[in-house]
Amino acid sequence: MIKKVRKAIFPVGGLGTRFLPATKAMPKEMLPIVDKPLIQYAVEEALVAGIEELIFVTGRGKSAIEDHFDRSFELEEALRIRGVKVDHITLGVPRLSPGSIAYTRQQEPLGLGHAVWCARHLIKDEPFAVLLADDFIHGKKPCLQQMVEAYEECGGIMMAVMNVDRAHVSRYGIVDIACENNPLVTIRGVVEKPHPDRAPSTLAIIGRYILNAKVFEYLERQEQGAGGEIQLTDALGHLVSQEPFYGFRFEGKRYDCGAKAGLLIASLAVALSREDLSCELMPELQSLLANSDVMQKVIKRA
Ligand code: UTP
Repeated sequence: MIKKVRKAIFPVGGLGTRFLPATKAMPKEMLPIVDKPLIQYAVEEALVAGIEELIFVTGRGKSAIEDHFDRSFELEEALRIRGVKVDHITLGVPRLSPGSIAYTRQQEPLGLGHAVWCARHLIKDEPFAVLLADDFIHGKKPCLQQMVEAYEECGGIMMAVMNVDRAHVSRYGIVDIACENNPLVTIRGVVEKPHPDRAPSTLAIIGRYILNAKVFEYLERQEQGAGGEIQLTDALGHLVSQEPFYGFRFEGKRYDCGAKAGLLIASLAVALSREDLSCELMPELQSLLANSDVMQKVIKRA
């Protein structure tokens, strides 16, 4: 019988160096898309997909994430004094039931695989999801919900996948495709950050996974991979021959919010999709683009 996916890991222990100086004293995962932090989008996605237990793998300087999902008595009181009705709707943050959220610490940012392994005692022996908050996916049905629905039919190991330019494959984990049955892709191999000439395909793994506790056996070995980091993809590579192993072509647009341009583009896309912002934003954007100096500079750089 296929067990329900009840738990999710949110690895948030990375240093976020690509966003310095913004991330010097603030977690990258608290960077907002418009007015909501990246990590909150990921938590809401997990809740919609039926996740009951949320496990954050944090590190130094990440306490703002814990505070964000906690009560804020000073703020609530200040709002009350101003006559504002205080509930999770005015505050805009989902109220998580007591005990449904746990934090464990990755003492050193040794890589994504290591971060996931740090949560092994909280997962025990059941399937679990992993969500990377900096992979923001905008669409009608949240990506993890699409994946959970597929998982309930076929089980196994599953990861979100999408096609990328061959020139960019060295930024991703890339899958070796055995066969396709849209939206599922049966995978026979995975490789982290391959050289474009050696990549088995251009189908990249995106930051949504449904895994099981077997992966911990391989992460336990603490083997360093690409970039000297303990890579989740490498541990998954060992499971390919042991488990049904699927890529899932999700519906929705993915933005790489671990990079500056990705976060900016996602912010614009979300803002333009919102009634409260699009009317004000659109003419400003048009005038920015019509400004010949700005356009000339962009054209020259391109
Ligand atoms: P990234 O590699 O994109 O994050 O990891 P990073 O290392 O923080 O970013 P840069 O490259 O220095 O800017 C994707 C996700 O995995 C987490 C990160 O926090 C991020 O959410 N992660 C990464 C960990 O939890 N631990 C690690 O050791 C590495």
